[in-house]
Amino acid sequence: MTQPAIHSSLKESRTFAPPATFSANAHISTQSQYEQMWQQAKDDPAGFWGQMAQNLDWFRRFDTVMEGQMPNVKWFTGGKINVSYNCLDRHLKGARKNKAAIIWEGEPGDTRVLRYQDLHREVCKFANVLKKLGVQTGDRVTLYMPMIPELTIAMLACSRIGAVHSIIFGGFSADAVADRNNDAQAKVVVTADGGWRRGKEIPLKASVDESLNQSPSVEKVVVVKRTGGDVDMVPDRDYWWHDLMEGASTDCDPVQLDSEHPLFILYTSGSTGKPKGVLHTSAGYLLGTALTTKWVFDLKEDDTYWCTADIGWITGHSYICYGPLANGATVVMYEGAPNWPDEGRFWEIIEKYRVSIFYTAPTAIRAFIKWGNEWPEKHDLSSLRLLGSVGEPINPEAWMWYHRVIGQERCPIVDTWWQTETGGIMISPLPGVTSTKPGSCCRPLPGVVPDIVSRDGKSLGPNEGGLLVMRQPWPHMLRTLYGDHERFVKTYFSEVEGCYFAGDGARRDEDGYVWVMGRVDDVINVSGHRLSTMEVESSLVSHPSVAEAAVVGFPHEIKGEGICCFVTLKTGEGDESLKKELIQHVRHHIGALAQPDQVRFAASLPKTRSGKIMRRLLRDIAAGRESTQDTTTLEDLNVLARLRADEE
Ligand code: PRX
Repeated sequence: MTQPAIHSSLKESRTFAPPATFSANAHISTQSQYEQMWQQAKDDPAGFWGQMAQNLDWFRRFDTVMEGQMPNVKWFTGGKINVSYNCLDRHLKGARKNKAAIIWEGEPGDTRVLRYQDLHREVCKFANVLKKLGVQTGDRVTLYMPMIPELTIAMLACSRIGAVHSIIFGGFSADAVADRNNDAQAKVVVTADGGWRRGKEIPLKASVDESLNQSPSVEKVVVVKRTGGDVDMVPDRDYWWHDLMEGASTDCDPVQLDSEHPLFILYTSGSTGKPKGVLHTSAGYLLGTALTTKWVFDLKEDDTYWCTADIGWITGHSYICYGPLANGATVVMYEGAPNWPDEGRFWEIIEKYRVSIFYTAPTAIRAFIKWGNEWPEKHDLSSLRLLGSVGEPINPEAWMWYHRVIGQERCPIVDTWWQTETGGIMISPLPGVTSTKPGSCCRPLPGVVPDIVSRDGKSLGPNEGGLLVMRQPWPHMLRTLYGDHERFVKTYFSEVEGCYFAGDGARRDEDGYVWVMGRVDDVINVSGHRLSTMEVESSLVSHPSVAEAAVVGFPHEIKGEGICCFVTLKTGEGDESLKKELIQHVRHHIGALAQPDQVRFAASLPKTRSGKIMRRLLRDIAAGRESTQDTTTLEDLNVLARLRADEE
């Protein structure tokens, strides 16, 4: 089967070498050092990762570095480890015990600083609370919380006793919480009365209450008092965090867990309507996040590091919590929106805490550009030394703005490509080594062996677009999809023989730099968040008026991709009020992040003779492009004309 290569029209010739002073002090500081590490990891992965694993503290050293082959690889078997021990206890032996682990700022402006020993104490106490509530090693605990220190405390408390956390982003609806609770069979939910977002309270506890009507596995709910808003507390089910913590002991030995003990489940969208529970395990994930934090962010003892992601996404798991804390870093954590009380909030935070490493998403960068340079210009950003980007391809002009206005042409930019499934950064510049090209995530990190292949698995040459795959396993890769190993094998390992398939299209240029072109499946990337078009479709067809729905992404100035829904109705014609109702319906069903940007009514959807919806055609229509697709297989050519006629 010969497949057409994916066409890439992006041409970018600017390059930016790292400043000499940066390279001189970087953890990885020369091209030859990088190449030697990369080659060693490729030729002798067990030797390389075994050596790297000395960065962790083990209760018992592993017997074998890696066992088996993709898709079923086990890492560091025979080893005993505890993730919270590595993120906390080991730092208490020296000067780090008094170092700030978390500098937190709430949206209203309240602040808290937790030193490593404070964080350790709170984690031990909450681990004891969980045990008292009946949580045992291996049980699942849902965390549905705002960006407050209690979220990090709860994560580390789970890892301390070997409970498996499943964090649900606070923007998801009650239905989404229920689905995830049920899939994971969660025993306890930790939440808050609410969280602050643009001055408004997000009523988290109310959503939990609604979700619990549909999730019978949940026995207990712990509620942090954050906003002070009204909540219903159900006796013998709901408890205030502060009440439980009051009497809890500060002693809690970390459980000595197998390397492969599950650490967390994180649900992410796939190409069907049902989210996938990506499962990560202890030692490999910890090692990967710890090392990549050190390499990519060139983390030093005196850095103040700020990743603006929400912990509800993988970026927050790996690069707010586990990676930085395993390195003993000082992490800034901010609860709210970038434009509250005004558009200068992020720059104010950088100035106030003298942030030196700043990691954010292209969607945020595009919003900053729109808000204007006057906001960053009001603040002293001279503390910054490194900038990062994650979540979607960064358009070269946004890259240049980030470089000029925020980095003041002084800070290297690391455009980091990775996924929920990969656990940690895979392809990224090394800031002391790589000459960056705006829009490219550059070269693979040591231990990462990517390839770009045609659908029949053949490696493609320079500048030929194809599928991005990994040819070698890595310690921080997902191990399974919770409760559905078959789907795991099918999704990631059946597309290209012997490889992990990422779901992205990419090309490699003549210098071996990778340019990611976006998803090749039915997943869209809205504001850096993955969303399955099928999820939105299932939500739409659950509305009584809807007969059929097809959802596609279209280019959106700020969000990267917007959501366009083509809808056919059971009877009658759609009007503005039904459009609004459908938008609210999806929002209620999935959450605000899935709110459609456009709803278009159609008499029928364009299909092939075999009944497949012609999505590529719909994508062209949504983007307002003349379709290049051959339409001779259209079941009903008139449909196309009607869909176009519906364009405003
Ligand atoms: O399409 C790629 C895009 O985001 C997807 C992964 O989404 P998620 O699992 O939610 O994780 C996001 C944060 C790691 C990828 O399949 N993506 C992520 N980073 C980049 C990117 N696309 C281009 N460049 C990136 N730096």
